[in-house]
Order: sequence, then C-alpha cells, then structure tokens
Amino acid sequence: MRTQIGIIGAGPAGLVLAHLLHLEGIDAIVIEDKSRHYIEHRLRAGLLEQGSADLLIETGVGARLQKERMYHKGIYLKFNGRLHRIDFEALVGQGVMIYAQQEVIKDLVAARLEAGLPLYFEAGDVAVSDLKGARPKIRFTHQGKKQEIECDYIAGCDGFHGICRPSIPAGDLQLFDRDYPFAWLGILAEAPQAKEELVYTHSERGFALLTMRTPELSRLYLQCPRHDDIAAWPDERIWEELRARTAGGEGWHLPEGPIVQKGITPMRSFVVEPMQYGRMFLAGDSAHIVPPTGAKGMNLAIADVRVLARALAAFYKSGRSDLLENYSRTVLRRVWKVQRFSWWMTHLTHLYDSDNQFDRRRQLAELDYVTGSRAAALTLAENYVGLPMEWE
Ligand code: FAD
Ligand code: DHB
Repeated sequence: MRTQIGIIGAGPAGLVLAHLLHLEGIDAIVIEDKSRHYIEHRLRAGLLEQGSADLLIETGVGARLQKERMYHKGIYLKFNGRLHRIDFEALVGQGVMIYAQQEVIKDLVAARLEAGLPLYFEAGDVAVSDLKGARPKIRFTHQGKKQEIECDYIAGCDGFHGICRPSIPAGDLQLFDRDYPFAWLGILAEAPQAKEELVYTHSERGFALLTMRTPELSRLYLQCPRHDDIAAWPDERIWEELRARTAGGEGWHLPEGPIVQKGITPMRSFVVEPMQYGRMFLAGDSAHIVPPTGAKGMNLAIADVRVLARALAAFYKSGRSDLLENYSRTVLRRVWKVQRFSWWMTHLTHLYDSDNQFDRRRQLAELDYVTGSRAAALTLAENYVGLPMEWE
C-alpha cells in the first residue's frame, strides 16, 4: 500500500488529523490496534475548549456535539467549605463545554467510514521503519495478513504507550517528566449534578472534582494515593469521601446514585523534545502527558494536529517545507504553557503529603487570591478556556 500520511492511532490526535488532511485533499491511512467498539467506549476526558469544539463544528463533524454539549460559562472553586465562581464569559468572553471524548471519537470514526476512507482496527504488531529515509514504512498485521504501507510522512498519534516514540533512538530525544504522589479515582454515577457547572474542591482530606456527562449522569473524581488499588474503594467509601470533601455551604447537597464505572489513573507531567524524528511527527499523548486538573489532554492533542495538518497542507500545496521543519518548535510553545497551567492547577487544588504548615497556608492564600482578584481569576480563565493558537 502507498499513502501520503500514515497515521498510527485513532485517538483524538489521529482522527482529527486524518479528518483535516482529508479536507485538504491529502491521503491518509489510519492504523489502530484496538477495536472500534473499544475506542468508542473508552472512558476518558470530557471537557472541550471552545476552540476544539469550533474546529469540529466548522469542519462538519460537530452536528451531534452542537445538540448534546453542555455549555458552561464558568467553574466553581470550593475551599474552606465555600463555593467561589470563576466567570469565564465575563472575564474572557468564552466558555467551555462538556462532550465526552468517546463521543468525539464516535463522530470522527463515523465520518471517516461513511466517506469510505481507510481506517484499520485491530492492527497487530504495528512497527515503523526507514524514518530517516524518503519513504518511511508502517508494517502491521490485519486479519491474519501482513501489511506494509509506504508513506511520505508518518504521524505518531498512538498515545503514551504507543510504539512511535520508542522507535526513535533514545539519544535523539530529551525527556522531561514529573510524577505526583497521588492519582485520580474517577467514577461515573447515575446521579444528577450538585451544581450546573464543574466544582473543583480543595479540602483537608484532599481534592475532589464534580463534573458530568449528561444531566442524569455525573462524573466525579477523588485524589487518592498513587498506588491505591480500586478494590480498596468500595462504593460506600467513595461516596463517604466525596461527601466529606465537598461538604459545606448553605443548602449544599451532593446527589448520589449507582456507580456504573470506576477506575484509578496515575498522574504525571511528561514532554519529549523534539516532537519529530526524520519523517515521523509525534502528536498528542505520544509526545506529552499533562495531569488532568486543567482538562487539557484532549484539547492539546487537537491543537498539535491542527498545526501539523496546516504544515502538511502548505507542503503539498506550495512545496513550502518551513512549517513542517518548525512543527516541533511551534507546538512545544503551547505544550509548555499547557504543562505549566496543568501543573499549577494541580498544585493549587490538591493536598500534598507534607507537614509543612507554611505550604498549607500559602496554598489557601493562593486559592483566596485566585477567587478574590480579577487579575488572578483572569489568568486562570484565559488558560482554562484555551490559549489562542500559534501557527509558526
Ligand atoms: P489516545 O487517545 O491515547 O489515542 C492513541 C490511540 O492509539 C489509541 O486509540 C490507542 O489504542 C492507539 N494505539 C496505541 N498503541 C498503538 C499501536 N502500537 N498501534 C496502533 N494504535 C495504537 N484528559 C483530560 O483532560 N481529562 C481526563 O479526565 C482524562 N482522563 C484520562 C483517563 C485515562 C485513563 C487516560 C489514559 C487519559 C485521560 N485523559 C484525560 C487524557 C486524554 O484522554 C488524552 O490526552 C487524549 O486521549 C490524547 O489523545 P491522543 O489521540 O493523543 O491519544
Ligand atoms: C473532566 C475531566 C477533567 O480532568 C477536568 O479537569 C474537567 C472535566 C471531565 O471528565 O468531565
């Protein structure tokens, strides 16, 4: 087989890239190692920046998103038992929306298959080669048959545990990372929301986040020790902890209901530089991971491939290669700003295992400052709704 762009991974990065390239008249083949059902039901992020949503709408894959999204004009920060609202619309004239990642995936997969464009599921033994040559290759097995694709370029969109990044010689990459002493325990519960917008709560028992999927389905997260086993968290313990952490304020009530899914996700910050090796570009989680506190993982993956699609389009239309050469430098500027914000939101809201009372007082003062100062709230709002795109 032969294609212009071989895309490995059908997550937000790979599928949005394939979609944007198709609109530019550029051929691509997408290779995914999981099944269609698996990727359409994998429970992950839920919050879209306006810019990500606008892109999906403007490029014709946002019809269901427009109908089903839950638009939010702001968020709440809760600490010392009191709610404080950050009004994004008033501060920066934009909001954010809840529309689950697996719904974005369903919309993009449907559009691609309806257009009859190539997307291979359940590909085995995926490998890349000749990355420094003129015709890099992807090899994989599909329905028992060995396949080979010759490409102009490869896009490594295969997430943190994929094969693209490890195919680059270690000496050619610089890794930057930071682990956190905690993880997030996430649940999906058949219960309405306590508030109409997200509530990020800091308490002396740790962090909790109340978010949602539909008016009847809540998504709730709890900070827990990094190596906790989900077996240690029976449903009643989860509700007890959520109740205790979010308590306080007049008329406050946390609605409860059956837990239909639960899991623990470790938290890390990770960046690899550069995000290119020969004719392979890395995009999304294959090149960087952010802690989920800023709700940025999916949005950052989409921002990466917007830059990549534009650079590839310039190359095929006018032979311009400077945008491609600058891809890594361009996207890393955003990546590092988003890393900084996600790290900061994590430090602002989580409880660190420290006896240092100075740090505790400083953290509470920072929460007080962020919710009391227009300048500080503006900084949070500007980052949370999504920084403007930088194209070169
Ligand atoms: P992915 O979505 O990981 O897509 C990569 C794709 O490549 C996958 O479909 C994978 O199956 C496929 N793949 C992997 N290896 C291969 C291979 N060898 N060959 C072919 N295909 C391969 N972000 C938030 O903002 N909020 C959250 O609450 C949140 N929760 C998360 C929970 C979990 C468990 C995880 C893992 C991530 C979470 N994230 C969250 C982050 C967010 O979901 C990611 O940032 C986003 O999915 C990145 O998109 P991507 O396309 O780069 O990678
Ligand atoms: C969601 C996840 C996040 O990490 C976040 O910061 C906000 C919302 C969500 O799953 O809805």
